[in-house]
Amino acid sequence: MGRGKLIVLEGIDGVGKTTQLQRLQAWLPTSGLLRPGQGIYCTYEPGATRLGQYLRRCLLEAKHSTQEPIADRAELLLYAADRAQHVAVDLKPRLQQGEVILCDRYTDSTVAYQGYGRGLDLDLIAQVNAIATAGLTSDLTLWLDLDYDRARARSQHRGNPDRMEQAHRDFHDRVRQGFQALWQANPDRVVRIDASADVDAITIAIQQVVRDRWQVWDQDG
Ligand code: TMP
Repeated sequence: MGRGKLIVLEGIDGVGKTTQLQRLQAWLPTSGLLRPGQGIYCTYEPGATRLGQYLRRCLLEAKHSTQEPIADRAELLLYAADRAQHVAVDLKPRLQQGEVILCDRYTDSTVAYQGYGRGLDLDLIAQVNAIATAGLTSDLTLWLDLDYDRARARSQHRGNPDRMEQAHRDFHDRVRQGFQALWQANPDRVVRIDASADVDAITIAIQQVVRDRWQVWDQDG
């Protein structure tokens, strides 16, 4: 069986990625796009592996911002360690089996959050991402784009903000600019979805993008 596909959803916190990922997972088997028996696997970063569960707690528990703030480079390397484990034990083996992987965040989050948000050097981040992924890039990244105020209004219903969500508005604005820059620099890989639309309209937009992209993949063999 040929290599599977890695489809990633990205965006600032509160844009509705989780809902759309679940809908994509439910829709794909009915879409007629999959090969018979082709599996779908839904996953996320950080925290999808056993090692990743520890790393996620280190990264996101709010107390880490008060007790001993995590240095920016340490934060970068913890996200990278989570990704290296995820790629090695989950993503690569499943893609080799021909599965379709739907992933909530991947390398573009590191560029947007640690690069544009924290201000770490973008070349350094590219090197770290290359090490963590061993060259595995997404086949398609759907960037759900929404401004900070609306995204925050949505995420506030979820209770206590985690360490990253506690960051100031300027930080999240820079992260959004980071996603925009990634979209502009990678028009073949990153597609912008207007996440200010209502939830059903976003779902339809995503389905259309996936359908169109699948045709290209089928043509390319
Ligand atoms: P989430 O699971 O709610 O999306 O939370 C993950 C948080 O981690 C979110 O604020 C984005 C952040 N993050 C980074 O800063 N860098 C990364 O590489 C990844 C994957 C996530």
